[in-house]
Amino acid sequence: MHLLNGKELAQKLQQEMTQEVTELKEKGLQPGLAVILVGEDPASQVYVRNKERAANNIGMYSVVYRLPETTSEADLITKIEELNHDDKVHGILVQLPLPKHINEDLVLDTIDPAKDVDGFHPMNLGNLFAGKPTMIPCTPAGIMELIKLSGIDLAGKNAVIIGRSNIVGKPMAHLLLQANATVTICHSKTKDLPKVAKQADVLVVAIGRANFVTADFVKEGAVVIDVGINRDENNKLTGDVKFDEVAPLTSFITPVPGGVGPMTITMLMRQTIDAAKRKENVR
Ligand code: GUN
Repeated sequence: MHLLNGKELAQKLQQEMTQEVTELKEKGLQPGLAVILVGEDPASQVYVRNKERAANNIGMYSVVYRLPETTSEADLITKIEELNHDDKVHGILVQLPLPKHINEDLVLDTIDPAKDVDGFHPMNLGNLFAGKPTMIPCTPAGIMELIKLSGIDLAGKNAVIIGRSNIVGKPMAHLLLQANATVTICHSKTKDLPKVAKQADVLVVAIGRANFVTADFVKEGAVVIDVGINRDENNKLTGDVKFDEVAPLTSFITPVPGGVGPMTITMLMRQTIDAAKRKENVR
């Protein structure tokens, strides 16, 4: 068993990006990221702070709008439209979930697809599904980098994803498909889930239930990617995979924390730099 160390890979990639941003700034281009957080969800506050810190460390222009829970849908949309026209901003991210009174789809549809560094706009999702990805949701993008690190050639392999969210499961399926894996998406209605999961050469777990995947889900030698970030009964950070039991069976597995999480932020930075270069026609 080998650990897929996302923290280490993220540090290496972010170091390279720091150098790249220095060079871009010498050419007069500073990539810029705007993040909007509505309300005071504690987990979202941590995620947004981490994104802000990473952008600053890399030398990007970074701005965060922390709006009150009571912000109206119209005011949020006005803010996004303003950022769509702000030349300093190449990437816009609206932290999810949004308060209940705001229509999430409407908000995401308002973001200029060229600045949609989360890859959630229907145009970017459509391009991904059509096999010509530009902006890709950051967590699946980070997972592809981790799978690359394992050295496994995905062509012809069985990839099983547990979870069908728009943010992880569905885009993940398309990225794996484009890498020529045979892809299965499982969800709450899937029959005999452990049996299906056990077919996987690559198993991606994104359901948000602590320690859900046990040894009987995992084939000997599989690559296991754990997207979960949960708190167990002792308030300890834990993934969706029961690590101690599953890890010995695997060829590669991601730890929680220090696996997928740091890669998600890294891919956000990558896509913001790429969006800036695309806009200004810099290679
Ligand atoms: N909330 C949880 N994950 C994400 C993400 O990747 N992007 C945004 N915008 N919100 C999230």
